Amino acid sequence: MTAREIVLKTKDVAAGYGGGDIISNISIDVEEGQIFTVIGPNGSGKSTFIKVLAGLLHTRVGGISIKDEQITPLAAPERVAKGLAYVPQEYNVFPNLTINENLRVSTEFLKRDRCATGEQRERVLNMFPEIATRLTLRAGHLSGGQRQMLAFACAMMAAPVVLLLDEPSAGLSPKFVAEIFDRIKAVNRTGLTVVMIEQNVKEALRIADTVMVLVNGATRLSVPASEIGSTHDLHKLFLG
Ligand SMILES: Nc1ncnc2c1ncn2[C@@H]1O[C@H](COP(=O)(O)OP(=O)(O)OP(=O)(O)O)[C@@H](O)[C@H]1O
Ligand SMILES: [Mg+2]
Repeated sequence: MTAREIVLKTKDVAAGYGGGDIISNISIDVEEGQIFTVIGPNGSGKSTFIKVLAGLLHTRVGGISIKDEQITPLAAPERVAKGLAYVPQEYNVFPNLTINENLRVSTEFLKRDRCATGEQRERVLNMFPEIATRLTLRAGHLSGGQRQMLAFACAMMAAPVVLLLDEPSAGLSPKFVAEIFDRIKAVNRTGLTVVMIEQNVKEALRIADTVMVLVNGATRLSVPASEIGSTHDLHKLFLG
C-alpha cells in the first residue's frame, strides 16, 4: 500500500498562556482522509493544542503545516482560507441568530476564492437535514445535539480540507453521541480529514484511525486506533 499524503503536520510544537508552556514537543502527522483523535485527562492540554492548530493561540516553538505549506505565522481566518475549520468545545453558535444567519455569518469573512458557494451550501444542507428544515429558527432554541450539528454545519460551509472538532459529543445523551459520531464518519467518508478531541473514548475509538494520548501537555502515545484496548491499557496510559 502506498503511503497517503500528510495533510496536517506539527513539529515539536509548544504553547501556553502565561509563564510556562502548557503543551510541549507535540509532533503529529495526519494523513489525508483520516480521523485523528486526541484523548487524555481533563486539563491535559487537548483544547490548548487544537486552539494552536486553529491559530487562536500563538505557537511558541515548532511549526505547523498544511500539505507542506507552513501556516505557523497565519492568523485564524487565514487558516480557514487555507482549508482548516474549527468547532470549539463551547459557545460554538450564535444563540440569538437564526440557523440561516449562523450559516451565513460562518463564511462572511472569507475571501471570494474560498467563499462558500451556493453549491457548498446545498451540500451542507443535504448533509444536515435537521438544520435544513429549520432555517428560520433561532439557534438558542435547538437541543444540545441539534446545536452541535449546526456548529458542525457552519464549519462545513467553508469547504474545509481538515475539520478540527473539540469534544463534539460533550454533554450529549448516548443516542446523540452515537448520532454525532455517525455523522462525523459520514462526512469523513466524503474525503474530509478530521482531527477530533474526545472524552467519550469508547465511541470515539469506533470511528478513529489514529489515537494520540495527551497527558500533562505531552504525547504519551500515538498509535493506530485498533491497537488501543488490545495492547495498551487506557487507565495506565492516562494515569501511569
Ligand atoms: N485561557 C487560559 N488562560 C490560562 N490558562 C488556561 C487557559 N485555558 C486553559 N488554561 C489552562 O491550560 C491547561 C490545559 O487546559 P485545556 O483546556 O487545554 O485542557 P483540556 O485537556 O482540553 O481539558 P478538558 O478535558 O477539561 O476540556 C489547564 O491547566 C487550564 O487551566
Ligand atoms: Mg478541552
